[in-house]
Amino acid sequence: MQIDGNTRIVGIFGDPIAHTLSPHMHNAAFRALNLNYIYVPFWVRREELAEATAAIRALNLAGVNVTVPHKEAIIPYLDELEEEACLIGAVNTVVNQGGKLWGSNTDASGFLAALQEEGFAPAKKKVAVLGAGGAARAVGVALARSQVEEITFFNRTFDRAAELAAYLEERTGVRARALPWEEMGSFRGIEFLQAADLIVQTTSLGMHPREGEMPPVAEEAFRPGQLVIDLVYRPLKTRFLSLAQKRGAKTASGLGMLLYQGALAFSLWTGVPAPLEVMRAALEEALG
Ligand code: ATR
Repeated sequence: MQIDGNTRIVGIFGDPIAHTLSPHMHNAAFRALNLNYIYVPFWVRREELAEATAAIRALNLAGVNVTVPHKEAIIPYLDELEEEACLIGAVNTVVNQGGKLWGSNTDASGFLAALQEEGFAPAKKKVAVLGAGGAARAVGVALARSQVEEITFFNRTFDRAAELAAYLEERTGVRARALPWEEMGSFRGIEFLQAADLIVQTTSLGMHPREGEMPPVAEEAFRPGQLVIDLVYRPLKTRFLSLAQKRGAKTASGLGMLLYQGALAFSLWTGVPAPLEVMRAALEEALG
């Protein structure tokens, strides 16, 4: 696609931004559908976020994705917030509606779409989540709204897990609890993990270039019949997932969530369904 006077610009705000895979998947999708759009990375420092957000209006961008560390900080600069983004307290997609900036969060719905692709129906299921940061929050909201039976959060900073569990209980009515990070390897922790139908690893442990790291989980935590997802996608198979697989659990990387959150953002900007397989192939190619 040739850039011309009608080209619509979308992109991503982040710091750092050099390693983002989103331009690969979105530009491949625009090309495949012959849409006159281009997706660009924007390296935006925290102190420039207000100006960068105002520039969405000033430069008439169609919208942007928002990534670390701006997902929460961008909220005060937007005009409207979708209910789910409000509940998560973070925005990953902004749509420019004729100068009005609308904030959405496609991480939660993207996670649910990835679960569906694995054939996993969350209603009435027991879930364990490792981590209590931004990604865990989106996953927690997605699961709480899908009527899971209970969620157990393990986190290094216990208070953060306790706060997230209490928040979800209060706001959604889901049963949620927090356990200390070290309990993962203890008898009690293993019991909770074994009972879980779904385990989601949301921390950065095991992410390139620190492939050797993994949460302090005991291998007895995993069993056949479980779905274990590691939101890390670089590498596609972390040590954590290899251990789960060895014990007979079904495993999935974070590629599915990355793909579906992107596909949902794509549709919000363009109004057309995303070419999923084109986007998946672009991600796989970019990951090597
Ligand atoms: P994200 O948006 O990717 O979730 P975040 O909000 O910074 O990023 O959250 C990072 C998560 O990974 C947190 O749960 C963090 O634990 P703390 O709340 O204790 O900081 C967890 N995490 C990061 N590095 C970790 C490590 N080396 N060991 C254990 N947990 C770690």
